[in-house]
Amino acid sequence: MKGRESGMPDRDYWESFFNPSCIVERLECSGLPGDIVEFGCGYGTFTIPTARLNFGTVYALDIEKELVSEAASNAVDAGLRNVVAESRDILADGCGRPDGSLDYAMLFNILHVENPISLLREAHRVLKPNGMVGIIHWRRDIPTPRGPSPDIRPTAEECRSWGEAAGLQFVRYESLCCCSWHWGLLMRRP
Ligand SMILES: C[S@@+](CC[C@H](N)C(=O)[O-])C[C@H]1O[C@@H](n2cnc3c(N)ncnc32)[C@H](O)[C@@H]1O
Repeated sequence: MKGRESGMPDRDYWESFFNPSCIVERLECSGLPGDIVEFGCGYGTFTIPTARLNFGTVYALDIEKELVSEAASNAVDAGLRNVVAESRDILADGCGRPDGSLDYAMLFNILHVENPISLLREAHRVLKPNGMVGIIHWRRDIPTPRGPSPDIRPTAEECRSWGEAAGLQFVRYESLCCCSWHWGLLMRRP
């Protein structure tokens, strides 16, 4: 089942909102030795810089087949061979990776779904001990040009408490000076 309010606008418009390389670096998603999963990858806006900045495989998952194809072809166009893009319902079926197998889980602009804690539990399941979870979302305290309705738009503090309910440990809130409409949060699997 597709998460509520998770449709995407045109790629150029969507990508005008972010400095993706800056965001992934600020959230410590670079120079990792192992593999990474991205829950709901969209066009691969964050997949591509992540794959550039890491040695391992980036598993880029999305329910929309067209977006998955686009993310895969964007990775090929960027000369990257470490992206595995897969069409998958992550809310119904999880991410399909083995327990304790990954270094990092990306939850970018996705935690407004109906059951965020189960997604965070799935991230916890697949991470190695000390594996990290990076979360970003649209701010609710200012007007933004895009993003889910304010009543379902989570704050960083809400996501932190959902992450803790899923067994993750708070690392820090990250100010995303390179992207003024978003907040960032880093958590880890103990
Ligand atoms: C708002 S977009 C964010 C895309 C990407 N993370 C980014 O920030 O550029 C949310 C994405 O989650 C995907 N999505 C929604 N429900 C899903 C599900 N059940 N399984 C997999 N992907 C899903 C949507 O298709 C969409 O591409």
